[in-house]
Amino acid sequence: MNILVVDDEQEQLDMLAGFLKHQGYEVVTACDGQAALRIVKDSPVSVVLLDHRMPGMTGDEVLERIMAINPLIKAIMITAYGEVGTAVRVMQLGAVDFLEKPVDLSLLLQKIQEIEGALEVEQDVQEVVEQVSESGLPIRMSAKSRAMQEVISMARRVAQSPWPVLIRGETGTGKELIARLIHSLSPRSQGPFIEVNCAAIPENLFESELFGHEKGAFTGAINQRKGRFELANGGSLFLDEVGELPLFLQPKLLRAIQEGRIARVGSEKDMAVDIRILSATNRNLKGMAADGRFREDLYYRLNVLEIEIPPLRERREDIPALVEFFLSRYASRPVQISPEAMDLLVKYSYPGNVRELEHVLQRVVTMSRGGVIRPVDLPAELRSTSAEMNGPLVQRLEFMELQMIRDALERHDWVQTRAAEALGISERVLRYKMAKYGIKK
Ligand SMILES: Nc1ncnc2c1ncn2[C@@H]1O[C@H](COP(=O)(O)OP(=O)(O)OP(=O)(O)O)[C@@H](O)[C@H]1O
Ligand SMILES: [Mg+2]
Repeated sequence: MNILVVDDEQEQLDMLAGFLKHQGYEVVTACDGQAALRIVKDSPVSVVLLDHRMPGMTGDEVLERIMAINPLIKAIMITAYGEVGTAVRVMQLGAVDFLEKPVDLSLLLQKIQEIEGALEVEQDVQEVVEQVSESGLPIRMSAKSRAMQEVISMARRVAQSPWPVLIRGETGTGKELIARLIHSLSPRSQGPFIEVNCAAIPENLFESELFGHEKGAFTGAINQRKGRFELANGGSLFLDEVGELPLFLQPKLLRAIQEGRIARVGSEKDMAVDIRILSATNRNLKGMAADGRFREDLYYRLNVLEIEIPPLRERREDIPALVEFFLSRYASRPVQISPEAMDLLVKYSYPGNVRELEHVLQRVVTMSRGGVIRPVDLPAELRSTSAEMNGPLVQRLEFMELQMIRDALERHDWVQTRAAEALGISERVLRYKMAKYGIKK
């Protein structure tokens, strides 16, 4: 079990860390809140021992941010002796316990051991849940890599909480899929899942789309209309491409989320809405917030919990299973895939991520003639690996020539007369080139 000790006083830090190490725990230390957050982000920490009074970021704030990064962390706050109210507040912020200064080491050990016991039980429960529902996810998807297993496990955990979740990832990585998964795993699964594409709504219709309007509120408002917030009542509201929302519209969204109340355009009355916010972006919202291109307060409001979906090229282990998944979805008859074709599929870089892979397979199953998908059936961009396509021009041209000749031969069942004809070269030249490149059936 990894324990992080955070204290600005070096002596106290050494003492606590030394004691816990001596008891056989893995211990890391941090001397301020910033350093602590970095450690929590980057490494597996189960328990945090946090000094409440530190210069810079206060203990409350550090605790709140730690819980936002990893709600499973057990935090023990170390508070000043006899300080009234702090203990209650830190427990509300998510600490599991607190200790007063000066720290009674035997009491500390006792609390750590209690947490350890509880964690073991939790872990057993978690494993059982994961094994049971691995095949029984409410949404059909494929996730073999460790990284995606982690994403699903996160989705499962955040689904239970009421907090907003920001899902980050490149285009086509499956952000919407994960948003739907969170909704279906949440206590609101019976309620509606309503999507708002922030990039697609015209600016002047934004308020009416989100909050609805009364009859006659503006020219063209012929009838009363409910907005997405109202439609999502009792369920989840998915703010897709939230990074595209124009700055001047952001305060309106922030207010509605913060207050949980909206008013239809043209109406005096506001009403309460009970919704859970899920949002997605392929942009670096944090960076945008730092340069003033996205409101920081809205960013923090949306990003209470965060799930990042890695690009497909960083989890190639997922590719074979995804290929099978999409083949079984799109092929009307059984198709197989040759090892060479699978090899190319696994090696490709997929700038469009899972969506691109899905489109490739859709195309391939409709175009391929035989029951086996071979390299020639794959689109050209998959057949030229980056090494071959980044060399000097002559090399690249030769590579393309080789591919075209091989394709032509494959397509014409290795009948050289027909392949040569298709390529617009003589049979003699074709034979010469086949020998040059070592092309054989
Ligand atoms: N793990 C997966 N298993 C099966 N299908 C997947 C998986 N991930 C993504 N897909 C499929 O890939 C396509 C793209 O996914 P999705 O629309 O969720 O991506 P996105 O991140 O929202 O993309 P964009 O940024 O372009 O909006 C969808 O058809 C989705 O069903
Ligand atoms: Mg999307």
